[in-house]
Amino acid sequence: MKRVFSGIQPTGEIHIGNYVGAIRNWVHLMEEYDCIFSVVDYHAITIDYEISVLGKRCIETAMILIASGLSPEKCNIFIQSHVPEHTELAWIFNCVTPVGDLERMTQFKEKAKQHRGNINMGLMDYPVLQAADILIYKAGYVPVGEDQIQHIELSREVARKFNARFGRLFPEPEAIMSIAPRILGVDGVSKMSKSMNNYIGLLEDKNIIWEKLRTAVTDVNRVRRSDKGNPDLCNIYTIHRAFSSEDVLLEIDKGCRSAGIGCIDCKKKLFENMMVELDPIRERAIYLRENIDYVHDGIRKGAINCRAIAKKTMEEVREALGLLP
Ligand code: AMP
Ligand code: TRP
Repeated sequence: MKRVFSGIQPTGEIHIGNYVGAIRNWVHLMEEYDCIFSVVDYHAITIDYEISVLGKRCIETAMILIASGLSPEKCNIFIQSHVPEHTELAWIFNCVTPVGDLERMTQFKEKAKQHRGNINMGLMDYPVLQAADILIYKAGYVPVGEDQIQHIELSREVARKFNARFGRLFPEPEAIMSIAPRILGVDGVSKMSKSMNNYIGLLEDKNIIWEKLRTAVTDVNRVRRSDKGNPDLCNIYTIHRAFSSEDVLLEIDKGCRSAGIGCIDCKKKLFENMMVELDPIRERAIYLRENIDYVHDGIRKGAINCRAIAKKTMEEVREALGLLP
């Protein structure tokens, strides 16, 4: 059975971009593949963070993955730092990765701009640790949003370089993208992101979600209700694509282009369809918060299973490198 690996950072509130761009795909893949999903705390510490909340955030993130439909019985869910072999492999990968490749990474350049006072080695090395996350399990598929494509490309490069120097040990992993690999924020300008105040939280209160949707930017050329709109230029339509049926999409497309429906009606329909999917997730989250031991047990089991695989890969790696047993 082919193996799937993906990760999510415990850096803030999980939003609908994370959900439709990645997590929802993970839930589908879980049924057919040997899946491993990690809450990547070692990645999260590459930027400034609050020490006292990191652990809570990790549990909260694992809880949301389970509330979204992942089952610790059907896949492995674990906290990255509970399998320290990831960082050991990352060191070895450091020794085959050209510095220039890392300096060119879009995410590194963006984060270096955002965190001028803390451009640390970990921030630059982030994609190498990500390659180690994937390759330590020899995963062939990596379901992610569009912003991670460059990092997966680097993972392939790392696998190629390692294999060429030390013998073929690793596959070249392929990215899998969802139907909504890039959702913009409610500002309609930049990518929906935890670090920007432009997201709709997966577990946010219904009234707040509606307020955010109601005021969200649509096609900026449609100023009056009587103006004809263009769904191709509208982020609300992009989100519709992730939550609404083909029939609804056709109806909205037609109505928008002919000014038959207004933006508020379109948003109301979206809100309705979103809630059909988010309501049960919110209910499961309430249940899990009260039964948090289930989450703790799940990630404990996940770490034990993953550590066994990771240890075996590291034995092969050490032998390939000529390190003393
Ligand atoms: P992160 O929160 O950066 O750890 O991202 C977790 C997953 O969500 C990754 O696979 C990202 O590519 C994906 N993701 C994050 N933001 C978005 C977005 N705005 N649209 C689609 N996917 C996203
Ligand atoms: N960098 C990813 C993100 O920000 C998270 C991540 C870490 C990841 N390791 C991974 C994703 C391995 C896929 C595979 O979203």
